[in-house]
Amino acid sequence: MVGVVIGALPPSLCAASLCGTLLPTVRSVNTSEEPDVRASLDRPAVDETALQEQFDATIAAGHRIEPRDWMPEGYRKTLIRQIAQHAHSEIIGMQPEGDWLLAAPSLRRKAILLAKVQDEAGHGLYLYSAAETLGADRADLTDKLIEGRQKYSSIFTYPTLTYADVGVIGWLVDGAAICNQVPLCRSSFGPYARAMIRVCKEESFHQRQGYELLMTMMRGTDEQRAMVQDAVDRWWWPSLMMFGPPDTDSPNSAQSMAWGIKRHSNDELRQRFVDMTVPQAEFLGVTLPDPELSLDAATGRYRFGAIDWDELTRVISGGGPCSVERTARRRAARDDNAWVTEAATEYARKHS
Ligand SMILES: [Fe+2]
Ligand SMILES: [Fe+2]
Repeated sequence: MVGVVIGALPPSLCAASLCGTLLPTVRSVNTSEEPDVRASLDRPAVDETALQEQFDATIAAGHRIEPRDWMPEGYRKTLIRQIAQHAHSEIIGMQPEGDWLLAAPSLRRKAILLAKVQDEAGHGLYLYSAAETLGADRADLTDKLIEGRQKYSSIFTYPTLTYADVGVIGWLVDGAAICNQVPLCRSSFGPYARAMIRVCKEESFHQRQGYELLMTMMRGTDEQRAMVQDAVDRWWWPSLMMFGPPDTDSPNSAQSMAWGIKRHSNDELRQRFVDMTVPQAEFLGVTLPDPELSLDAATGRYRFGAIDWDELTRVISGGGPCSVERTARRRAARDDNAWVTEAATEYARKHS
């Protein structure tokens, strides 16, 4: 009898067998009285139940799933969708702040902003690369973004009206990103988790530069202080929406948490962000635009007012203030620079 007991192999070998490349194809040699089953054994025998059990045990033990490992199709698709959406957010997120590169108020501010925007491009690169390890095609993901078939973070459809917005994005938007992304460093998918470690270190710099810029402006003129307050008023609620819909309206969250892709619910992370940010706002000397914001003495956590979920729905459906402009710019960047991609591809082909 010929067979492969997948469950008895170490995880890496189990996984390799599924790629169909690393383990030799098993062929039968019929020496018994049994019927000839060669045709059905020309492919490696795959015991799906054993593989699923192996996957579940890896997740339960808090270990990582790597690209070579077997994984359920739903897990792979969920990861591609989440990582692509994250990558798109990094790339589209370069636009609102990039608008200020030529209008930065000093060479120092320009150098800081340039470094930050370049970091975001790097984050997009790590994330698209992580999606590629799951079999996604990067050009295809970009097409899906441009055609509106994949989304990016709602926050990046809002305009940056003054230089204070650069500071507030660093403080609130990168701050919210840190809350979201630090738990992803323990995500069950190896390439995603490892990318997040470096991303979070850089996001920490982004948040500090934003807060330092705002502190500088708050020590300046009345007009500068008013600019900071105005920016805070515009960005506070969209920052809370960055954590996604409420848990009661987030049907995929439970499965993502069971798979170890997500570690905390949207509402949990949102609360953590509010608790972290309110004391920072007090230190900065700005008012957060929520009359219901108050400390719950019993829990030590802040209560906050109702979020306009209709606005979030409108924005993520392509109806944000700058949605059309953001996508059009990304499309132009792809098309105008197609010759660079073609030249690089041809160069790589010649030297491979
Ligand atoms: Fe980033
Ligand atoms: Fe950032």
